[in-house]
Amino acid sequence: MDMGVFIPIGNNGWLISKTSPQYMPSFDLNRTVVQKAEDYGLDFALSMVKLRGFGGETEFWDHNLESFTLMAALAAVTKRIKLFASTAVLTLPPALVARMATTIDNVAPGRFGINIVSGWAPNEYTQMGVWPGDDYFKYRYEYSSEYCQVMKDLWETGQSDFKGKHFQMDDCRMLPKPSGKIELVAAGQSDTGMAFSSQYADYSFVLGTGVNTPTAFAPTAERLAAAAAKTGRDVGAYVLFMVIADETDEKAQAKWHSYREGADMEALAYMGVQGAADSSSGETSTAQAINLPEGAVNFNMGTVVGSYESVAAMLDEAASVPHVKGIMLTFDDFVVGMDQFGQHIQPLMKSRQLKAAAE
Ligand SMILES: Cc1cc2nc3c(=O)[nH]c(=O)nc-3n(C[C@H](O)[C@H](O)[C@H](O)COP(=O)(O)O)c2cc1C
Repeated sequence: MDMGVFIPIGNNGWLISKTSPQYMPSFDLNRTVVQKAEDYGLDFALSMVKLRGFGGETEFWDHNLESFTLMAALAAVTKRIKLFASTAVLTLPPALVARMATTIDNVAPGRFGINIVSGWAPNEYTQMGVWPGDDYFKYRYEYSSEYCQVMKDLWETGQSDFKGKHFQMDDCRMLPKPSGKIELVAAGQSDTGMAFSSQYADYSFVLGTGVNTPTAFAPTAERLAAAAAKTGRDVGAYVLFMVIADETDEKAQAKWHSYREGADMEALAYMGVQGAADSSSGETSTAQAINLPEGAVNFNMGTVVGSYESVAAMLDEAASVPHVKGIMLTFDDFVVGMDQFGQHIQPLMKSRQLKAAAE
């Protein structure tokens, strides 16, 4: 079972709240988090790409670093942990991203991969004049598929003559080749998103819908497994959880309660409007899930709240769900949270001890 961290590339991490820890993103913060993750034996760190924040009193995500350049810097100050950067496919041509990935692989051989972001918030793109119109929602995974095919051609052969609907290569060259496979991850929850993951991704994030329990994502993991069975590829299900831990259940619950009480409603309202823009999204999509009021303060992310023992037990429960290959964590406070996880939670997790024994 892999364990990863979704690093705080945007201000305040994933809590849209006035009463959660308030902080800016920086290289120093992310280096601290990723080096701690590496020291505690975590397997990977992933940074998102977010190009427009939600505003509000907390200026939520109005402050964001850029994913590839941050991961390149982190590649140079780590030795073992895998690093994933995110490409927003509308903003960067695939032949360039293939070369960026090869460059980071050169810094950190075999440790770099890419999260493919088809895009769900139009304002991120309209503001820079690269939004193709709302019709894009209907073909964004077709676009992403062609994008991945171009990159794969270049990584595997150093050349591409791919001719698609959205991308046309003309004896496109890219050398050197990377040292090995550049792994791809994706996070689409819709059926088309999963069909895409099944064809191109090595891992795909599955989210729970409705209730917040450690196993709420199980039906989504089943859907991913069914989609992957159609392509016959091995696509590992990754799960996302926010950890809010303390010495006792009561103390942890009190923090979670306080964060929800302090929800930045203005920022949440903005996010709701952006999330609702995708008229083609089905009820299983992320766009729909983030519109639910309950728990929206952290994107309705699966949230494990409790003492170190409780959190370890809940993460083990999540790890025992069929098809799960890994868990990615966020924290209310990433520096404190990484230490709590590494020192108190992980040592209690059966699913992580099995991994340690296997190594
Ligand atoms: C773990 C995870 C990481 C994601 N990273 C990003 C990101 O970096 N930028 C972004 O705009 N969307 C991101 N998303 C959203 C997805 O890429 C995708 O657009 C979203 O799930 C909607 O797809 P769907 O309609 O198929 O559900 C992420 C989602 C998850 C669960």
